[in-house]
Amino acid sequence: MSELVRLTEVTKVYQGGITGALNGVSVAVEKGEFAAIMGPSGSGKSTMLNLVAGLDRPSSGTVTVGGTDLGKLGEAGLARFRRDHIGFVFQFFYLLPNLTALENILIPAQLKGNVVPGRARELLEQLAIKEVADRYPALLSGGQQQRVAIARALINNPTLLLADEPTGALDTHTGDQVMELLGELHRHGQTILLVTHDAKLATRHAARVISVMDGKIVDDARLESPDRTASEVIRVRGEEVSR
Ligand SMILES: Nc1ncnc2c1ncn2[C@@H]1O[C@H](COP(=O)(O)OP(=O)(O)OP(=O)(O)O)[C@@H](O)[C@H]1O
Ligand SMILES: [Mg+2]
Repeated sequence: MSELVRLTEVTKVYQGGITGALNGVSVAVEKGEFAAIMGPSGSGKSTMLNLVAGLDRPSSGTVTVGGTDLGKLGEAGLARFRRDHIGFVFQFFYLLPNLTALENILIPAQLKGNVVPGRARELLEQLAIKEVADRYPALLSGGQQQRVAIARALINNPTLLLADEPTGALDTHTGDQVMELLGELHRHGQTILLVTHDAKLATRHAARVISVMDGKIVDDARLESPDRTASEVIRVRGEEVSR
């Protein structure tokens, strides 16, 4: 495996903040990993994810993704980096209400000038929500909305999928299904960095758990074999794949 993300001595102090939201964090994530970031509210998890996404800049230290030092990019370069390399999934989906599911999924592709409806339909099928393509978000369940948001995050084939509490607004069963889906994407090579409060979900699906407390990494555990309860055979686009 090769390294995809590296944070070196990253500190983030927000304007008006007395203590740092992140305090000298150094960590690396390999290509193909599925890592969960856990920690109490306010410990700096979202801050970390936003810095990796290039949505915000550190006060000091460096963030490198795919060999690119994000600190060396200007605003336009950073926007291009996000568009081309990062897929981001949020707790509250943020779908545009006046666009259909399919149109929502295509937004990042449109921004890139590379509209690929075939790919969008393929993702809808892979995420088992083919039937919602032409529906508006208000008519979708939370789980369906999150799947649409995941498809939107994947449409440009991002190097890195970031998810900040993607199950936070879902009931346990639906949350578990969304996590299972992320696990499936991971088994097909997608690098995923996920923030979650839920230790059970993290250890069941992710292969590494990075614990954050007061802006510092206090534990970094690689799980030999994640405690998965799903069957050994999964279905991808109708085909059975063993893992
Ligand atoms: N834009 C901001 N301006 C000022 N302070 C901020 C900002 N965003 C976060 N903070 C502060 O930085 C610290 C870390 O916040 P962060 O959002 O990263 O925590 P978190 O671990 O994601 O918490 P939660 O689990 O509640 O989402 C907190 O003390 C928070 O109040
Ligand atoms: Mg957060």
